Amino acid sequence: MDVVIAAAPYVMGHETLIQLRVLDSTTRKAAEKRLSAAEKLSAIGQMAAGIAHEVRNPLTTVKGFVQLLQKQVSHSYFDIIVEELDNAIKTLNNLLQVAKPDLDDEPSVSIHLCPELDSLIFLFQEKLYNIKVTKVFLDQDKQISGKKNLLFKAFFNLIKNALESIEGKGELTIEHFYKDGVIHLKFKDSGVGIPEEQMKMLGTPFFSTKNDGTGMGLTQVFTTIHQHGGSINVTSKLGQGTTFHLQLPANHLCSAK
Ligand SMILES: Nc1ncnc2c1ncn2[C@@H]1O[C@H](COP(=O)(O)OP(=O)(O)OP(=O)(O)O)[C@@H](O)[C@H]1O
Ligand SMILES: [Mg+2]
Repeated sequence: MDVVIAAAPYVMGHETLIQLRVLDSTTRKAAEKRLSAAEKLSAIGQMAAGIAHEVRNPLTTVKGFVQLLQKQVSHSYFDIIVEELDNAIKTLNNLLQVAKPDLDDEPSVSIHLCPELDSLIFLFQEKLYNIKVTKVFLDQDKQISGKKNLLFKAFFNLIKNALESIEGKGELTIEHFYKDGVIHLKFKDSGVGIPEEQMKMLGTPFFSTKNDGTGMGLTQVFTTIHQHGGSINVTSKLGQGTTFHLQLPANHLCSAK
C-alpha cells in the first residue's frame, strides 16, 4: 500500500497540537502509472503508425509488380520474394492495428468470455502435449461489452506468451471469475519468469527478448485492455512463472472507435 503522511501544526486555545493526516494513495498512484503508460504508448504508437503506413503502401505496390512479373517470367525466387513481402506487410498491419486501433471499426457487442477462451485454447492444440492446461471458469454467465476480435487477439497473445515461456513440460492455468462489477481473468504459467528489471518494459512497443519476436504482442494486450476500461497486473518469479491478472469492468463501453 502507498501512503502519504502530512503533518501540520494546529493551535487550539493555548496549546499547539500536531495534526497528522494519513492518506491511502494506492489508487491514485495506480491511475498515474496507467496514464503515463498510456501516454508512452500513444506517442510511440502514433509515430510508428505513421511510418508503418508510409512503408506499407510501396511494399504493396512492389508485391503487385512482382506478381505481374511472375506471370511473364518464371523463377523460383519470385515465390520467396512474395512470401517475404507478405511477412513484412503482415507485421506492418499488426503494428497499425495496435498503434491506431481506430482504424478498426469493429462494433462493440456483449461477450461471454469463457467460450472465447475455450476456442482459443483449442487453437494451440499441437503445443499442448507437454503443457497441462487447467481452466477454472466461474461466473460464466457474466458478460462484458467490447470488441470481440481485439479481445480475442489480446487473449491469444497472452496464451502464446505463456506457452512460449515454458521450456519442456509445464502448466498453464486460466481463471475467470466475477467480483463487484468486474470480471477477473488470470493467465498463470509455470514458465521461465520475467526478470525484475524487464517488468517495466512490458507493453512497450518492440520490447522482445525472443529471436523472432516482434514485441508487439503485449502492446496490443495493454492497449486493448485499457480501451475496455480494464487494468493489468503482472507478477512473476524467475524460474517459477508469471501471472497476468486482467480486470475488466463487466459493462464498460469500449473507447476504441
Ligand atoms: N508469460 C510470459 N513469461 C515470460 N516472459 C514473458 C511472458 N509474456 C511476455 N514476456 C516477455 O515480454 C516480452 C514481450 O512480449 P510480447 O508478446 O510483447 O512480444 P514477443 O512475445 O517477444 O513477440 P511476439 O508477441 O511478436 O511473438 C517477451 O519477449 C518476453 O520476454
Ligand atoms: Mg508475444
